[in-house]
Amino acid sequence: MTERVVLAYSGGLDTSVCIGWIAEETGAEVVAVAVDVGQGGEDLDVIRKRALACGAVEAEVADAKEEFADEYCLPAIKANALYMDRYPLVSALSRPTIVKHLVDAAHKHGATTVAHGCTGKGNDQVRFEAGISSLAPDLKCIAPVRDYAMTRDKAIAFCEDKGLPIATSKKSPYSIDQNVFGRAVETGFLEDIWNGPIEDVYEYTENPATPREADEVIITFEKGVPVALDGKPVSVLQAIQQLNDRAGAHGVGRIDMVEDRLVGIKSREVYESPGGIALITAHQELESVTVERELARFKRQVEQRWSELVYDGLWFSPLKRALDGFIDEASEHVSGDIRMTLHGGRAVVTGRRSQQSLYDFNLATYDSGDTFDQSMSKGFIELFGMSSKIAAKRDLAQ
Ligand code: ARG
Repeated sequence: MTERVVLAYSGGLDTSVCIGWIAEETGAEVVAVAVDVGQGGEDLDVIRKRALACGAVEAEVADAKEEFADEYCLPAIKANALYMDRYPLVSALSRPTIVKHLVDAAHKHGATTVAHGCTGKGNDQVRFEAGISSLAPDLKCIAPVRDYAMTRDKAIAFCEDKGLPIATSKKSPYSIDQNVFGRAVETGFLEDIWNGPIEDVYEYTENPATPREADEVIITFEKGVPVALDGKPVSVLQAIQQLNDRAGAHGVGRIDMVEDRLVGIKSREVYESPGGIALITAHQELESVTVERELARFKRQVEQRWSELVYDGLWFSPLKRALDGFIDEASEHVSGDIRMTLHGGRAVVTGRRSQQSLYDFNLATYDSGDTFDQSMSKGFIELFGMSSKIAAKRDLAQ
């Protein structure tokens, strides 16, 4: 029986050419799989038919938007996941979602190998291959661009030579990856890190400098899960989509950074994640009110590690799974409302309320009604500072 390869298919030039390229290179039949994580653009059925027209023996499309929101974006929100304190992991979250569908398709179609269109320089190749081998250790992985030197020029030549039904002309100056959680833009003139991004690179957000009326939103969380906006129940997907529109209209969630890729290269990235940044900002604030101090302090370390693991492509790893258990436990009391103003590129929290609040007005107040016995602090500080004081006596004497 002819071997089969499952290809992660986007419908674009590179992965369309990959179909025939893989067939020629390996003699295998290619099954194309496209996964909708809310990237927008073309109709999935158009993409499916194109895969068949380009020589795939089978083509499948999966609407994974809800799954992506519930199983991948939600854990990131609960983890306040920001790689290098800034990047909400947009692409890093979609890859494991796609991997899951690729592995399912490989089993269903009896494929021995999974292929993807990544280059050999980025994180996405790692996310695909480490993900696939964690879910199905026996599957092989190939990346034609990296492994068979399928350059852009050669891809265009292949496309024209075989008369594939793909436009080879409209080449974007950027490499763009987008999904419902955000958008990543790299390459082109952005590779000069002194060049500022032009308005052209943004699609999910309006220019924050444009004068406009502020918007105010109340986000309700239940155990760390966003469940309502302005009192109207929403799914996680709807929360992200609606906040993409509302926060995006005020330019919230634009990020311009130089980041450390796993492969060791520093790269310039421009991101926009209006819904993601609004939700994480609100979620962080609700945690400040509802999570006990020691748990909150420790969770910050967990969040950083979680973000690095996910960035590095280890979504399906034992440590990431165990940290998810911790985060779920820590989210037990993260319920309540956050009010925020969306304006001028920022999502600013202006109010919080929660049945689970640990904020005690009578302890915090400086007015009458203060129930805190200030005299207790004197002895506390004496003991708390004792070891430093003893050391200081020794060190200052020398
Ligand atoms: N650097 C980002 C990341 O590693 C974005 C990658 C986007 N991928 C792409 N093919 N443009 O998550």
